[in-house]
Amino acid sequence: MKIPVIPHWPLIGNAWAISQDILGFQQRNFRRYGNTFMFYLPFGQRVVLTCDKDVFKHILQQQHKNYRKDYDSNKLKLALGNGLLTNEGESWFRQRRLAQPAFYKKRLEGFFDTMNQLTLAHLQELSADSEATVQIDREMMQLTSKIVIETLLGKDIGDEMSHLQQHITFIQEHLVNLIRRPFYRFSSKWNGKEQQFQQTMRDFDAILYAIIRQRKAAAPQNDLLSMLMDARDADTGEGMSDRQLRDELLTIYVAGHETSGYALSWAIYNLCTHPASYQKAVAEVQAVMSDGQLTVENYKSLVYLKQVIDETLRLYPTAYLLSRESKAAETACGLEIPEKTLFLLSTYFLHRHPDYWQEPDAFIPERFDGNTNVLFNSEAYYPFGGGPRMCIGFHFATMEITIVLAQLLYHFDISLTANGKPVVAEPLITLKPKDGIHVRLTKKLT
Ligand code: HEM
Repeated sequence: MKIPVIPHWPLIGNAWAISQDILGFQQRNFRRYGNTFMFYLPFGQRVVLTCDKDVFKHILQQQHKNYRKDYDSNKLKLALGNGLLTNEGESWFRQRRLAQPAFYKKRLEGFFDTMNQLTLAHLQELSADSEATVQIDREMMQLTSKIVIETLLGKDIGDEMSHLQQHITFIQEHLVNLIRRPFYRFSSKWNGKEQQFQQTMRDFDAILYAIIRQRKAAAPQNDLLSMLMDARDADTGEGMSDRQLRDELLTIYVAGHETSGYALSWAIYNLCTHPASYQKAVAEVQAVMSDGQLTVENYKSLVYLKQVIDETLRLYPTAYLLSRESKAAETACGLEIPEKTLFLLSTYFLHRHPDYWQEPDAFIPERFDGNTNVLFNSEAYYPFGGGPRMCIGFHFATMEITIVLAQLLYHFDISLTANGKPVVAEPLITLKPKDGIHVRLTKKLT
C-alpha cells in the first residue's frame, strides 16, 4: 500500500502545524491516518512519521543497512564532527568497536563512586536548610552534566569545567535553532550568531585539545578519555586520532547528559504524582540502604527503582523521535517505501499505543517486574533505540539514574509545590518538562 499523504500547503508543507505543537500534530494524524503517514516540510521535503512497531523493527534492526542517519545529523556534525552519534558506515563501525569496551557494565562500575560522590555533594549544596524549594529538572541537568564531564575527563579539570559548560550551552542552543527554525541558517549569518558559533567552537576545541595533549603525556587515569585513548583496533592495532577523540568526547557529553537529566526529572515527577509507587520506592531504598550506604553491590537490589525508570522512559522517552533516511526504495511492512525519504520514528506514540499497551497512559512500574506480564510489550519499547546503533550509554544511564534517585529518596521527602497543574512535556531536542518541575525537598532526620 502507498503511505497515506496528509493534506499540506504548497511550499511550506505542514511546517506551521508542526512548529505549533509537534506532539498534537502526531496524535491527530495517527488517529486520522493510522500508524504511518507522510507529511511535507518546506521546499517539498517529504517525511514519513510512524508509530508502528513492525516499522521500528524493520528500520532499526532487520533492514538497518538500507537506512542512514538523516540530514539533521549533518547539522549536528558541525559541532560533533564524526562522533558516534553522527558517524556512518565503516568509520562508525570502527569507532563503535573501539569505544564499546569502555561502556561494558562491569567497566562502568568503576565510575560508581564518582557518580555517588558527585550526587551526595550536589544534594548537600541543595539542602543547606532543612527545607528547600527547587526546580528539580535544572538541578538534575547540572548534576548529570557534572557526572558526565568528570567520568569523561577525570577529577582534575577544575576551572575548565565551567568554561566547557558555558561553551556547550551556546553550541547546543545554536544547533537546536539550526534544526528547528528553517530560516535561522540565513538570519544567523547577519546577526552575528554564526561568527559567535565559529569562535566558540575554536575556544572550545582549544580547551579540549589541550586536555587531550596533557593526558597523552601523563599516566592513564580512571576515566573514559583514558579508556578511549587506550583502545586499539583489533585488526590494525591503530588507536583514535586527536580529532576523533575530540569528536567522541563532545558527542558523549551531548548525548549523555540531557537525556539522563530529563529522564531523572520525569521519574521524580512520576513518583510525586503516584503516592503508592513513591512509598514502595522509599521502602525499597530504606531496606537496601539500611546502614545509610549505597554501594556498587547493594544498588543492584534496587529492583523496583529500576522498574520506575523503565516505566518513566516508556511514558517520557527523552529521545522521543528517532530519524533515518531510506537509501533505496523497498516494500516492507505492507508499505511502499520510496528512496531518500526521511523517516521519523515516534517513540513517544509507540510507547503509548493502545494496540500495544494496556492502560497506555497509566504509570504502572510493575509492568517491568519480569513476570510474564500482559502489561509489558517488549516489541513496542525503544527508549534507547535498537539494532546496531542502540545507545552505547544504556548501562551508564541506568546506573547513574538509579544512584541519584536512591540518594534523593533516602535523604529527602519530595513533593510537588502546590500549583496543582500537571507538568506538560515540551519536545525540543529531547523531551523536556515545560515550565520545569518545581518540588519541595524536606531533609529527613536520618
Ligand atoms: C536516559 C538516558 C538516555 C537515553 C534515553 C538515550 C537514548 C539514546 C537513543 C534512543 C539512541 C539511539 C539514537 C538513534 O538510533 O538514532 C542513543 C544513542 C547514543 N547514546 Fe544515548 N541515551 C541516554 C544516555 C546516554 C548516555 C549516558 C551516554 C553516554 C555516556 C549516551 C551516549 C550515546 C551515544 C554515543 C549514542 C550513539 C551510538 C551510536 O550510534 O553508535 N547516551 N541514545
